Amino acid sequence: MLSLIEKLEKNHGLSLDEYKYLIDNRTDAAAEELAARAVKVRREIYGNAVFTRGLIEISNICKNDCVYCGIRRSNTNCDRYRLTPQEISDCVDEGYSLGFRTFVLQGGEDGYFSDDVICGIVREIKKKYPDCAVTLSLGERSYESYKRMYDAGADRYLLRHETADKAHYGKLHPAEMSFDNRMECLKNLREIGYQVGCGFMVGSPYQTSAELAHDLKFIEEFKPDMCGIGPFVPHKDTPFAAEAQGTVELTCYLLSIIRLIHPPVLLPATTALGTIHPLGRELGIKAGANVVMPNLSPVAVRKKYELYDNKICTGEESAQCRSCLDNRMKSIGYEIVIDRGDIKKEARDNV
Ligand code: 5AD
Ligand code: FES
Repeated sequence: MLSLIEKLEKNHGLSLDEYKYLIDNRTDAAAEELAARAVKVRREIYGNAVFTRGLIEISNICKNDCVYCGIRRSNTNCDRYRLTPQEISDCVDEGYSLGFRTFVLQGGEDGYFSDDVICGIVREIKKKYPDCAVTLSLGERSYESYKRMYDAGADRYLLRHETADKAHYGKLHPAEMSFDNRMECLKNLREIGYQVGCGFMVGSPYQTSAELAHDLKFIEEFKPDMCGIGPFVPHKDTPFAAEAQGTVELTCYLLSIIRLIHPPVLLPATTALGTIHPLGRELGIKAGANVVMPNLSPVAVRKKYELYDNKICTGEESAQCRSCLDNRMKSIGYEIVIDRGDIKKEARDNV
């Protein structure tokens, strides 16, 4: 096991069988070893800085029907909303004054948010706050659409691949959704020039170490700028309501591995991780993550953007969320910085 961990740290990659072995044979000692090395390489690149992004959930209206997701179109219990461009702009103003220098506009695949609407919003943010980065997380769109939004000033795009195994993808999504198209989207985003984020859920139904090995191999090859991983958490109004949730332990183990695969990657300690354990985000940072994404959405809609049950931070004001995370990170020896938090390119080009 130790020689495998050393090999991973040195080569930034392993074979599929080796990844699978690393997962299947994990022990507390192996987790500690991986975390220590992950924290060391992260410290070399980013010191004790934790980057933050203000998350604005712009719409929970979605044309898709992903089986795991609480805002899937078949969920008739979901109380739908969309923010107006003015409301989004107000969130950004508040976020800027709280010290955010990256804004993530995330939403379901809602036809209202055409290229024109998004481009208008992005242009306005970039004009008013040229020192900020804008990240979009709006699902699958055409090459032309991604290009137009990039040309309007968007810097980054998050599109989790969800699983790198095509058969597994088919079990998590309805037949009309395509694994190949999702992968094509990620390639297009990269080609256009975005900083690109992929990612997956840990412990999603039908996932085994074989699927996870494919996720790790994909990350090794794609070298995303960002990688969002968090535990699967069942939502009561989905067909996966009775499925088991993912674990903190495996999520943190994988965070450490991903840090060693791609040292400069921007790796969030996700809200889902904070949802299944009161200190989930702290544990994520201690395992090698270096980003947190507090909620900037208006309090009135937060409960409605419920991708999974019992999501945290749905009752807090943005300012409370911000200072809560500041304190949490300080308590474990890290500092949230006022910075766009771009990937350290020099480090990226060397790997
Ligand atoms: N549990 C955990 N994560 C989920 N997501 C969607 N539904 C769930 C769930 N039930 C994640 C998906 C999506 C991201 C926005 O949220 O990975 O890409
Ligand atoms: Fe939202 Fe702690 S981060 S209240």
